[in-house]
Amino acid sequence: MIITIDGPAGAGKSTVARQLANRLGFAFLDTGAMYRAVAWACLQRDVDFSDVDAVADVARTIVIQFDGDEVLVDGQNVSGEIRTNDVTAASQYTAGNIEVREILVEQQRRIAGDADVVTEGRDQGTVVFPAAEFKFFITASPESRARRRQEEFAARGQNIPLEQVLADQTDRDNRDAARKVGAMKPAADAIEVDTSDIDADAVVQRLLDIIRGSAG
Ligand code: DC
Repeated sequence: MIITIDGPAGAGKSTVARQLANRLGFAFLDTGAMYRAVAWACLQRDVDFSDVDAVADVARTIVIQFDGDEVLVDGQNVSGEIRTNDVTAASQYTAGNIEVREILVEQQRRIAGDADVVTEGRDQGTVVFPAAEFKFFITASPESRARRRQEEFAARGQNIPLEQVLADQTDRDNRDAARKVGAMKPAADAIEVDTSDIDADAVVQRLLDIIRGSAG
């Protein structure tokens, strides 16, 4: 069974997707980590991000693997490094690269195989697994997403004004939504869940109720 969870950054999607996978005993696939892994490898190799063919070559040649919560590139554990601000900023170029998307979509389908998987990203219910049994689109108000991100930065010792976090987030949302391929949008048959006023545990419970309810 495939369950897809898409939506913007900061809506609590990752926490919810991981917890849901745990509760169901399903595998978890973090597809954002794959766009980040390619961006990390490009930075390592000093690849010019405007050279779309060179960026695609990196995606084609590196081996991305998941080992529990860890992400490996060519056997090297890059779990921490792919979460830095530099990699976050650079991943817009891998996410916007049509060939990279084709390569990663193919890998995502192969990784899922015939397993029971909760998969998380932007295009999982629309492009990668259009026949998924359950599709969720997790959102939250721009303000509550920006506040969550601001708290994450603060936890790392970076104090950034809310207006700036909000402005960066709006830029990223617009880019994600405007992408020609793999744009962030709910699948026609996705169930939308707004997390502005509920915590992750309650969201997970709601998804479990939906999944178990429909399963009979
Ligand atoms: O969810 P995240 O922040 O880890 O995603 C990293 C980047 O990859 C971000 O720019 C959105 C993009 N992405 C994507 O285009 N498609 C996906 N399925 C997952 C992430």
